[in-house]
Amino acid sequence: MIRARFLLPLAVASLAACGGQQTAPEPPGEIESAADAWTHGAMVAAADPRAVQAGLDVIAAGGHAVDAAIAVHAVLGLVEPQSSGIGGGAFMLVYERETGELTVYDGRETAPAAAMEDYFFKDGEVMGFIEAWQSGRAIGVPGQVALYKAAHDAHGQSEWAGLFEPAITLATDGFEVSPRLAEFLTSDRLRAVSRLDDDPAAAAYFYPEGEPVAEGTPLVNADYAETLREIAQVGPSAFYTGPRAERIVAAASAEPMGSLMTLEDLANYQVEVRGALCGSFRTYRICSAPPPSSGGVTQSAILGLYNRLLPEGTTDETERLITWVDAMRLAYADRDHYVADPEFVPVPGEDLINPVYLDVRAGQVEEPAAIPQPGDPGEALARGPMIDLWGRDTTEGAPGTTHLSIVDLEGNVVSMTATVEAPFGTSRLVDGFLLNNQLTDFAREAVKNDLPLANAPAGGKRPRSSMSPTIVFDATDDVFMVTGSPGGNSIVAYVSKTLVGVLDWGLSAQDSIDLPNVIARGETVGVEVGTETGERWAGLLREAGYNVREREGENSGLHVIIVREDGLEGGADPRREGVARALAAPAEE
Ligand code: DON
Repeated sequence: MIRARFLLPLAVASLAACGGQQTAPEPPGEIESAADAWTHGAMVAAADPRAVQAGLDVIAAGGHAVDAAIAVHAVLGLVEPQSSGIGGGAFMLVYERETGELTVYDGRETAPAAAMEDYFFKDGEVMGFIEAWQSGRAIGVPGQVALYKAAHDAHGQSEWAGLFEPAITLATDGFEVSPRLAEFLTSDRLRAVSRLDDDPAAAAYFYPEGEPVAEGTPLVNADYAETLREIAQVGPSAFYTGPRAERIVAAASAEPMGSLMTLEDLANYQVEVRGALCGSFRTYRICSAPPPSSGGVTQSAILGLYNRLLPEGTTDETERLITWVDAMRLAYADRDHYVADPEFVPVPGEDLINPVYLDVRAGQVEEPAAIPQPGDPGEALARGPMIDLWGRDTTEGAPGTTHLSIVDLEGNVVSMTATVEAPFGTSRLVDGFLLNNQLTDFAREAVKNDLPLANAPAGGKRPRSSMSPTIVFDATDDVFMVTGSPGGNSIVAYVSKTLVGVLDWGLSAQDSIDLPNVIARGETVGVEVGTETGERWAGLLREAGYNVREREGENSGLHVIIVREDGLEGGADPRREGVARALAAPAEE
């Protein structure tokens, strides 16, 4: 049942709507326009201090944010192998300050050409989520190395080969195993699901003599160093063709339920270069990854709905929390129903954030105990009903992804979320890197209740993602905020928390990250408890009638940069091991 509530007629609420002890952002108008020289310095926020340092060194030597991102990520693939690496994929959003251009490099993994709609069926039965996670069928053709190259060709200012040096040095000399990596390796529960021990190369690397490598142990990965050395010297062909490609195909094809990936699939991998998907929130422009990621659509839809549903000037905590939760519930329902690979199915990406549709959708808030249903942008925009094009989504998600936010000394920006999907991907280690299990981001069935599923597997198709690498622009159209997170389909909620926290509640980058995570998708509202605010929010929502599910051990990994008048403000998620570090602008001569 649709709930009656106060609706704002396309309200533009006051920017001063923040209360308590929060810090208000500078009014956007006071920040320099894009035409001005960039004097804010540089910053790198990512999941490991060693990776952050590699990025800062590249920038200090004159590198572009894209150069820094490649150096940062090559180190992350070594020191945080549970999250991402060259055996996986990513969405990278790049802002080129001089031209104002925004570009998305879609290095999402693709299904092998031979994958059909029954790709996740075994003996006539659909595979369970964990069974699929461990199978070769889950392995998508990795896009990360091709993404590095495409982005570097377009934006790079540093020499390609040098970008891999920090990672090669660490891999050759040995890096200290971090507490979080050590914890992953000792978790019996994770060990049982990831089955790292089943892969001889992974077992030998992570469990030498049968014991997990301990925190602080120097770990050498000579194979990774050699792989990077070859990529540095000859480019992506050292990955997508030749003996390394043969080893990737052999590992992916191994049982259980081997992949149908071929050498042609690897050789034919293409990065898609896309426009960013942008929506608006008051005077801000919010830009993120378009389909096949659901990130951009859902971030903008949540903010658009929140703006329509919240009476102007509201500072009441309960009202703001509930409005945000309602906006998330509606936007997630649409995301689940409509977003998939636009090369394969019609995805109404822009329609889902069209102001006319959002006006209609804002009137469809459901009772807290109801399961939110998708809306129909086709009907709202007089294009004809489209809700029954697809059956109700059955896609499930798994904690293994990373996000990095970078601003360089020229004001160029990279927001990149990269992933191998589940922790350690599919746990198959080839030449020092792990193969992803990204294809579990497909619905494993193709039909539900006699209707096709938009996110069903198909040869060459990219599975739907939730990755939301985001850049926010202010009223002068200059960069105001960079954000993103790992977290499977909770990514949308985690990133939204920082957007609402900074843009509406006036929080600092760090305070917005530190807020409890709240995930309002489907029939429950997950609330991260264990803090005073978390307990209070869980109570408020329960009292309002929501089906609250208390959550602990959240796997967000938010890395946020905000452009303030006097410099860059960073925040890193305490739930992981990242840091945000600045580099001062060089002194004027
Ligand atoms: O693309 C996606 O949305 C997922 N494969 C990301 C997986 C993830 O974030 C796991 N958790 N931390």
